[in-house]
Amino acid sequence: MRIPFRSLVRLVLPSLIAACTPARAPRPVSTERPLVLPAATPLVIAHRGASGHRPEHTLEGYTLAVQMGADFIEPDLVSTKDGVLVARHENEIGATTDVATKFASRKTRKVIDGDTISGWFTEDFTLAELRTLRANERLPFRSHAYDGQFLIPTFDEVLALADSLGRTRGRAVGVYPETKHPTYLRSIGLPIEESMLRSLRARGLDRADAPVFIQSFESGNLRVLSKQTRIRLIQLVSTAPQVTPAALRDIATYAYGVGANTRQIVGGDSSAVPTTLIADAHAAGLRVHAWTLRPEPVFLGTRYGGDPIAEVQEMLRLGVDGLFGDYPDQVVRGLRR
Ligand code: G3P
Ligand code: CA
Repeated sequence: MRIPFRSLVRLVLPSLIAACTPARAPRPVSTERPLVLPAATPLVIAHRGASGHRPEHTLEGYTLAVQMGADFIEPDLVSTKDGVLVARHENEIGATTDVATKFASRKTRKVIDGDTISGWFTEDFTLAELRTLRANERLPFRSHAYDGQFLIPTFDEVLALADSLGRTRGRAVGVYPETKHPTYLRSIGLPIEESMLRSLRARGLDRADAPVFIQSFESGNLRVLSKQTRIRLIQLVSTAPQVTPAALRDIATYAYGVGANTRQIVGGDSSAVPTTLIADAHAAGLRVHAWTLRPEPVFLGTRYGGDPIAEVQEMLRLGVDGLFGDYPDQVVRGLRR
């Protein structure tokens, strides 16, 4: 029997494409319905929420990100004085809240991870005190229209929001927590990891197929976490020695993937040739999530000629498995195009 050529292509092509495509993350599932994503699309990770549009790490920013089509929302985690995890990019909150006007006298100076920093620190404030603050936009060249309006959310509130938004849209909203300053916070009796796992377990998310990735720039806490949870772990990398083939093989012993700076992927300046990071990571069995896509001239590589969509498309061409973006709408648009 002769099979028409077009039918043959339809039958065989999907298997060929699957065989030639690097191994991809199992698609996370919600507790109610499976998370359905186009097979060829990298995950869209809303970096600190839709942080190009709303002050970072606010429930409003996370919500907008999901409405824009993000697959995951990313809370960076630090601790309050009374041991509650809250979403802030760093424990110093002078640049992202109105703490300076409300608690002027509580300004102090500390050495954190080797850096001397002046400001106001979450570990010096109770949750009740932090609740009196409102979030501000960090960057001067972004809109400040929403300054002074939104609360600092707790990690539990972020999880509840993701669950609720997931049910509304009919597919899971992934959560991608990052432990910030984990060694320092443990050293002062406010460890992140146990509390983070407790919150995830309370929602039934301590599973290998949960729509959760835990990330850290430190490797010590990820190595410990790999023995405590089946949640997929992402090792953040930012230096060349961390991404040699041997280093990547070591990371693969405890992590599911790496979160790499886009510059490490494309090789740096405008004329640089892409590196072998993605191929090496995939060869080690690791996924690669790239950070951070931002369209403003101060961030966007000159190689893209001012077009942020071109960056999305280069990342897609190079085979990344996930993209962190401050403007999830742009990332979605770039992937669709
Ligand atoms: O977590 C990925 C990326 O967010 C790392 O950079 O400094 O924005 O947390 P940062
Ligand atoms: Ca982060």
